[in-house]
Amino acid sequence: MSKTLQELLHMVDRRTRVWLAVCGDALENAESICSTYSNEGYTCMNQDAVRNSFFQKTIEYTQGRNWLEIGPGAHALLTQMALRKPTLHSLVAVEANEQSALEARKCVKHDSRCRIITGYSTTYAGEKCVDVVLSEIIGVIASSEGVIGVMNDLRMRRYATQSTAMIPARAATFIAPVQLGSIDICRGGNVYASERILLLRGMRVDSANLANDVGMLEDLHFDMLIADRLTHHSTLQIVKSGQCHGFGMFVGISSPMPCRRYTRSKIATVEKWHANDMWTTSDASDHHYSRNWRNPVALLSTPLAVCVGDVLNLICIVDHATTSAPVYSICYSLNGNPMGQLTLTHTDMYPTFQLLQAEMKYDRSYSNMTIPVKQQP
Ligand SMILES: C[S@@+](CC[C@H](N)C(=O)[O-])C[C@H]1O[C@@H](n2cnc3c(N)ncnc32)[C@H](O)[C@@H]1O
Repeated sequence: MSKTLQELLHMVDRRTRVWLAVCGDALENAESICSTYSNEGYTCMNQDAVRNSFFQKTIEYTQGRNWLEIGPGAHALLTQMALRKPTLHSLVAVEANEQSALEARKCVKHDSRCRIITGYSTTYAGEKCVDVVLSEIIGVIASSEGVIGVMNDLRMRRYATQSTAMIPARAATFIAPVQLGSIDICRGGNVYASERILLLRGMRVDSANLANDVGMLEDLHFDMLIADRLTHHSTLQIVKSGQCHGFGMFVGISSPMPCRRYTRSKIATVEKWHANDMWTTSDASDHHYSRNWRNPVALLSTPLAVCVGDVLNLICIVDHATTSAPVYSICYSLNGNPMGQLTLTHTDMYPTFQLLQAEMKYDRSYSNMTIPVKQQP
């Protein structure tokens, strides 16, 4: 087990459950994620009041007769928000998870304007040039559940055109060098860990960030075709001396609805990101934040010592961005000296996790512990 992971697991308190990734057992791509959606996941989304308020207001604001929804889920929450609009003439919702599609149909059966179709969106064949595309298929890294490929496909097959309103209109992933403390790790009650990534709930970027701002990993505009390779350069100034455990991330989604009602992030890059439009992020430093997304932290194998005044340069690259399994690379240099590169594949992002036994957790012998390996049948 890496030095960083050992150090972080030592900070876990007695109430927090630790889940370790099982080596060799992971979801391969975005399609396979769809099959794992369960009531638990949908309920978590239903309870995310900030996220839902973002969609509710955006849907109320958006005009259009013919709507296409990708991924209504089992409870068809956003579908029902859209169906409250008297101006809506028809809504087709395409859901890849068969069981969820069945349940969604029951939720909207009273409304003849709505049709739920089972299947992955790329296989959908129906009326072209819709007025509105509605979807919430944003991953813990915005593009990690395949949203780029899905939106590009709708544009290339002319379901979405220049005049189609996209909800959300834009999504981004922000990234920052973080030093994590026990509070950061234990806040969500569960820690999901592998050698390469930690998944936390409710990361407060203002307290964990060692830099003056956050960088950008990706910035996706759904009103145009998005390239297969995305590159972002960020220069950050270190403002707290400490040990950088890795790069923490959070997502943002925005809509073209003018609004400044939400508490704004104090982070310059986020504030500038879409200044006058409505947006929400999964950064818990924001007073109102969307809490259903976990925050990934790409882990360094050994913590990196940084000092006030150091300059950190990040080059973030998303490769195979338009496929259902994008690959993320973070190249980092300190004061002009290249320090290394972290790579996250789909398998790193979506492993199967196994709950760590309490005895193992409390004997504090993480140094002897290895990540479990999938048993061959
Ligand atoms: C994050 S959930 C959103 C559920 C619901 N729309 C909400 O926001 O509360 C994503 C849903 O989209 C489905 N999904 C993801 N990608 C899809 C695609 N390309 N085509 C059809 N369904 C998809 C998943 O199976 C899942 O049910």
